[in-house]
Amino acid sequence: MQKSTEPDPRSDGVEKYADVNWDELGFSFTPTDFMCMMRCCGGENFSQGALVPFRNIELSPCSTVLQYGQGLIEGLKAYRKEDDGSILLFRPEENALRMKMGAERMCMQSPSVEQFVDAVKQTILANKRWIPPPGKGALYLRPTLMGSSSVLGLRAATEYTFLVFASPVGNYQKAGTGLNLVVEEKFHRAIPGGTGDIKAVVNYSPTIKAAGAARAKGFSDVLFLDSLTGKYIEEVSGCNIFMLKGNILSTPATNGNILPGITRKSIIELAKDFGYQVEERDIPVEDVFDANEVFCTGTAVGVTPVASITYQDKRFEYRTGEETVSFKLHVALTGIQSGSIEDKKGWTVKI
Ligand code: COI
Repeated sequence: MQKSTEPDPRSDGVEKYADVNWDELGFSFTPTDFMCMMRCCGGENFSQGALVPFRNIELSPCSTVLQYGQGLIEGLKAYRKEDDGSILLFRPEENALRMKMGAERMCMQSPSVEQFVDAVKQTILANKRWIPPPGKGALYLRPTLMGSSSVLGLRAATEYTFLVFASPVGNYQKAGTGLNLVVEEKFHRAIPGGTGDIKAVVNYSPTIKAAGAARAKGFSDVLFLDSLTGKYIEEVSGCNIFMLKGNILSTPATNGNILPGITRKSIIELAKDFGYQVEERDIPVEDVFDANEVFCTGTAVGVTPVASITYQDKRFEYRTGEETVSFKLHVALTGIQSGSIEDKKGWTVKI
């Protein structure tokens, strides 16, 4: 990794924390000091990455990411550990592999797993003062891959840019009693054979209209149904969904339309460890009506309880609070991520 010529905040004498009101952190963008960038041209491998000061990037107006949405994102979090102040990253190789899978689908070149993980680590170290104090949040990393050469006829770019930037974040949703979702019946987020199972930039913008309309009516977000039959639940705009009935925890199967969430995968494993039976299957929307608990998972949302789901003007309510299974899973997951619970699974990477 090449170093920037700018002053390096990793050097001695730099303050431990940036000037941030850590108690007011939400999930919004705060620019940090450095980002990591690398390029690849004409079928070559990606160059060695370079840390550069965070800034706007120069991009051809005719680049494939702008014209045809040839872009992928990832999201992962780094935590400051309470006891020794070290930094922990959660399952970064999973993000690297998911980006590779997405790149294959979108005809893009992608950095190797090692390049991806190294770029993430270097970005974290260069922005260390932006990692919130223990218990106040995390440093959110946003690896981004884009077709950056100019192409007018519809085909893949010949140049790709990979960058990683960072922002300190707190909770995605305001702390409260849980999400109030409404089932979306007009718009869909994924189609069979489409890109619902990769983290393509084009998967997110089409959800904004439906989620915005839902918020205007007082809901927190929408729950999408499958586009083929309109019978089965799929995802919320930016996260996976689970429901609990008795001892059985169910989540939509990754059938091509569902993003294989890393939090989703981790929660499935933790829930099995806790003795719950986990089913990945097609879930008819009616099945959620009499669930005991419903919750969402994702890097940004963590494990967030759902307080209600409204479908065709009928509202169904679920348990929330500290006695719930979702809370138990949230405590277990964030404990491992932040280092307050021993990581017996080898999920965390110490930097
Ligand atoms: C994440 O959870 O990391 C995402 O990228 C979802 C996004 C809607 C914030």
